Amino acid sequence: MTENLTQTFTEIFGPSATPIRHFHAPGRINIIGEHIDYNGGYVLPCATIMGTYALIRQNNTSTTRFASTNFVEKGITEIPLADVTYNPIHDWANYPMGVLHYMQQDGHKIAGFDVLFSGNIPNGAGLSSSASLEVAMATALNELFGLGYAMIDLVKLAQRAENLFCGVNCGIMDQFAVGMGRKDFAIYLHCDTLEYRYIPMSLGAYKIVIMNTNKRRQLSESKYNERRAECEQALALLRKKHNITQLTDLAPDDFTNAAHLITDETIHRRARHVIHENHRVQQAVTALETGDIAAVGALLTQSHNSLRDDYEVSCRELDVIVAAALGHPACIGARMMGAGFGGCAIAFVEESGVEGFMQTISNEYTKTIGYAPGMYAQESGDGAREL
Ligand code: GLA
Repeated sequence: MTENLTQTFTEIFGPSATPIRHFHAPGRINIIGEHIDYNGGYVLPCATIMGTYALIRQNNTSTTRFASTNFVEKGITEIPLADVTYNPIHDWANYPMGVLHYMQQDGHKIAGFDVLFSGNIPNGAGLSSSASLEVAMATALNELFGLGYAMIDLVKLAQRAENLFCGVNCGIMDQFAVGMGRKDFAIYLHCDTLEYRYIPMSLGAYKIVIMNTNKRRQLSESKYNERRAECEQALALLRKKHNITQLTDLAPDDFTNAAHLITDETIHRRARHVIHENHRVQQAVTALETGDIAAVGALLTQSHNSLRDDYEVSCRELDVIVAAALGHPACIGARMMGAGFGGCAIAFVEESGVEGFMQTISNEYTKTIGYAPGMYAQESGDGAREL
């Protein structure tokens, strides 16, 4: 893979005696804990095998040149290092530019460089291709220029770039999983304190299957911001009687007792999702650690129902694919994953039945929706690193 990319790099940017360095950052899947990160609670993501390659070389100029095999039609984006500012014209390149911008703002002198990205994470599918691109850029610049950031600081910088440079109001989960992921482990992360623990992904006889609805996540940004605002409203109401800083500070029982403080039925449901989902993550970790994979599966399905009915971030395509999965005898649990309104769902499937499962769900989905889904049996992978 990287040999071909080296050739492509040289074709695009020309030959040079300066060595090219190779980096990789994964995407992320989230086992459970959806719409929790910006509410300061627990999530359980892991890094994927799929990811983004970044090939990079200093170019002895005062400009940086970005190219991607995923956006060949966009050609080379050339940016003077003295003026790294967001511009919609730069399209995908704004993500790595944001990282560069915040490194400069931290006071680092970064010299000219050429970088080629190449990713195999389906775009807009909720597998964090943008976090992967940002963290790949951050890791590559950190190493190339010896900037001395720890990975956790690159993770935070990448989130800042996405929030403030690109104007996407995401939480910390994606960049964290992409930067800190470890093969064969999930990360049990508390999104407020950033305390975390690696949980072995010992799934016994089960495999993770990612089901891509191939419906691009429309609406997701405006609805995402709307949900965040609704959570803030719920928090403000609950704080009238409870000394809490986050919705996730309440356990489900406390919430039942406090529910009368929220009279708006919609806001009540939003809070109910967050508080119960946060609790499900803790239950899922216990179940994983005791080898009760069937219990994890059941929690996944509860999570889907809550995201669909209480948080209302699912859509027909996600509901169809999850229902088809749950109707298959090899599947012990499934749910939509990520922001919602399209993108992917995750299922736990008996290993011996994976092939049949993927075929059957694919056929059923295609028959109902009119186009085919993508199906990937996934393992967890390593976080961002130099190859
Ligand atoms: C998107 C965001 C994450 C997280 C999820 C929902 O993936 O980027 O920060 O909020 O949605 O759990």
